[in-house]
Parts: sequence; C-alpha cells; structure tokens
Amino acid sequence: MRIDILTIFPGMCAPIVEESIVKRARKKGAVRILVHNLRDYTHDKHKKVDDRPFGGGSGMVMMPQPIFEAVGALRRQGNVGNAQRRVILLTPQGKRLNQHNIKRFTKYKHLILICGHYEGVDERVRANLVDDEISIGDYVLTGGELPAMVFVDCLVRLLPGVLGDKNSLKFESFEGNLLEYPQYTRPAVFRGLEVPDLLLSGNHAHIEAWRKEQALKRTKRKRPDLLKK
Ligand code: ADE
Repeated sequence: MRIDILTIFPGMCAPIVEESIVKRARKKGAVRILVHNLRDYTHDKHKKVDDRPFGGGSGMVMMPQPIFEAVGALRRQGNVGNAQRRVILLTPQGKRLNQHNIKRFTKYKHLILICGHYEGVDERVRANLVDDEISIGDYVLTGGELPAMVFVDCLVRLLPGVLGDKNSLKFESFEGNLLEYPQYTRPAVFRGLEVPDLLLSGNHAHIEAWRKEQALKRTKRKRPDLLKK
C-alpha cells in the first residue's frame, strides 16, 4: 500500500511515521508513506494555501488550486485504477473512525490523506476530489495532521505481515465488541500484589474461559455501549 499525506506541516507527520511499528512496516515493504508539503503545489512567491471566505465571516479557507494540483500529481504517481485508491479528508465533520470501519481501508493500494486547516477547505475539494471524510472524534484539533497520524497508525498495524502474531489482532480491544481482558507479566508477586493463580496453572481451557469472562465483565463496567451493538 502507498499512503500520501498532504499537509502544510510536514514536520508534524515525519517523526510519527519514522518510529515503532509504522517504521518497521515501511522497512518490511508492507507500506510506503510519503509526506508532502502542500505549499510545493502553489505558484505564487508567498506559497499561499488559504484565502478569505466568499460571503465574509471569520477565519481563512484552504484554496482549491494547490489541493487539486497535488492530488492530481499524486494520483498519477500512485499509478493504480480508481477502484484501488481513496482520497481522504481529515475533518471533524467526517465519519467517526473506529476499529470496525478502519478495516475497509486495508483493501486499497493507494490512499491520499488531506490534512485540513483553518476554517476548513473550499467546498469544491470536498465535492469533487474527496472520497471519504474522516473524523477521529467529537473534538476540534488545530488541523488534520494528528488525525492523519492516528489514521495511519491504526491502519498500518492491520496490514498483512505487520504484526508478527495474528492472535494479537484477534484478542485485542474492540474485537467482537469487547475490551481486552486483564494482562499480567513477571514477577508473579510484585510489592505484595499477586497475579491471579489461574494464570499460573497452565490450564489453557480454564485460562481462556477466565479471559472471556473478564473481557465481558470489564466491557459491561467500562463500555456498556459496546455490548448493545
Ligand atoms: N481536524 C480538526 N479536528 C479534527 C478531528 N477531530 N478529526 C479529524 N480531523 C480534524
């Protein structure tokens, strides 16, 4: 998969994709991630990407020209058919991201992420260029960079071959609408605090049953809304 990130703050994105599992996924060749400065697609000497809204009002609006040009160029570079590519705008108006709906993006070969800013982007971008609008939650950030990084991190770990152990995907929080069961590691007693005996028993059937029960209990207590789904 190729992911292009279009931003006016490339410095906010580069460090995130150069660490941890995303870095490893890139090294393995599971994903290519390219960060682009939107200002490189302007033609004036001030590299202007925003302007005042028609009709008046506060704030600035991102202009269509640099975004249309950038997306056009990146589409050509991606070199895949329309059906294998999505252009995604990060915006608080978008569909809220969750562990279920991120999965459908794993099937594409090319994603172009547009990080919005200011009072928003010119509506013609939304209407003519963007396939999906994504929000990471009901709060407003200063721009789409952190949301784009959240999207990339969440997506990349789902790509084939990125996480070594398939079980770590199967049993994690939100799978089957349950939160993850409690986990413990060495030492078995830490400052007098003990690990449940059952986990040291070696009885895998009992351990599995206990984990299921704990996941259910915990979900009931912390996120009862998940059980209604
Ligand atoms: N841009 C600003 N806030 C955002 C959010 N919550 N999700 C996606 N993009 C945003």
